Amino acid sequence: MDDKLKEVKAILKKYGQEHLLNHYDKLDESHKKKLLEEIEEIDFDLVNSLYESTKKELKNSKDEITPIDYLDKFKLGDKYKYYEDIGKKAIKEGKLATVTMAGGQGTRLGHDGPKGTYDIGLDSHKSLFELLCDGLKEEGKKYGVTIPWFIMTSKENNDETVKFFKEHKYFGYEKDKNLFFFIQGELPMVDTEGKILIGEDGLIKLAADGHGGVYESLVKDGMTKKMRELGVEWVFIGGVDNCLVNMVDPVLIGIAIDKKVTVACKSVVKANPHEKVGVFCRKNGKPNVIEYSEITDEMAEARDKDGELLYGESHILCNLFSVDAIERMGAEPLPYHVAYKKATYIDKDGNLVVPDSPNAYKFEAFLFDAFSEVDDMAVLRVKREEEFAPVKNSDEAGVDCPKTARELYKKFHHLD
Ligand code: UTP
Repeated sequence: MDDKLKEVKAILKKYGQEHLLNHYDKLDESHKKKLLEEIEEIDFDLVNSLYESTKKELKNSKDEITPIDYLDKFKLGDKYKYYEDIGKKAIKEGKLATVTMAGGQGTRLGHDGPKGTYDIGLDSHKSLFELLCDGLKEEGKKYGVTIPWFIMTSKENNDETVKFFKEHKYFGYEKDKNLFFFIQGELPMVDTEGKILIGEDGLIKLAADGHGGVYESLVKDGMTKKMRELGVEWVFIGGVDNCLVNMVDPVLIGIAIDKKVTVACKSVVKANPHEKVGVFCRKNGKPNVIEYSEITDEMAEARDKDGELLYGESHILCNLFSVDAIERMGAEPLPYHVAYKKATYIDKDGNLVVPDSPNAYKFEAFLFDAFSEVDDMAVLRVKREEEFAPVKNSDEAGVDCPKTARELYKKFHHLD
């Protein structure tokens, strides 16, 4: 241990992070060992460059933003059935798997536990996980298959998530046969001086590395290998917090196969030109999603000859990928975005700091930054009321909250 401690001290000195060992002596043996291991795993150069990036304007004003083509699911005419038949065949042949990203912290919702365990207040009191699973089972039945389900958790919520599934008998799924859990990556949180934080447990304060971490984690944790063994070719990746998510859509799969694209995404049309959502576009010719804050008012209001918004297709985290595309995307690091968040930590004098306003930086990769890896992808506009009922905020916010999601869910499933 002494040699290891010496090595770690040298690393910390090099990077000006010596404070991480301030309370080392007060830890028990297992925590001491864990802390040293965690420090050894930190990519300090990466953390430094991420911290430096917090001081810079990330936007590249030279980026050329142009609209991207999309198809409207309900204006496909005869092609609807054509695409649907292609997709149905692929599903029946067991070529589809789904991934639910459930590694987020759900801070805005404020639920004590993994977001997927949240009960949105239906009479059935089903959790988000169960609602998603109901949808999968119903679709699987239609095609005579069990659609493999992969769930991404974080180190923070993995144990609780797996325990919840176990208590509910995996909702009829079979763990390690058609239900798989995998844990996403993490990065240390830093304060405004670039110092890495120590959490309440005396260990490094780590935070999940964003939904963009899904590709790398799927590959690293052996999930794409597993998918190939199961004969899977297409993977729908969605969030845990959309209780109307339609993970099994033959039309979307049919379009991807027919158009020979490796990524096909769903969109819903913006509620109004200035809705604060990310929209599909092309950035320097490549598919991308641009934040509302990155386009001008003029662009936000621009319309095509049919009166449709040129930048009106919102990204709803409902995307289909070929297994090949996931593996390629997982091989290349994505850029990290900075979020300024509240983080409880132990300061250099050993005091617990519980902030009431943001005090630390968290670094997250965004799933859609990988879209620029492909030359082309399909965007399919679907109906908001059929496929998008997000649970982001608590009821006080009044939007994208349990109440609004519950109403949309009930309406769609005729529960009133
Ligand atoms: P959000 O970006 O809405 O974040 O995630 P969140 O963690 O649920 O909520 P806030 O921002 O803390 O309030 C969209 C989807 O991506 C998943 C979430 O679980 C959700 O399904 N996600 C997000 C991850 O799986 N990992 C992450 O690191 C971030």
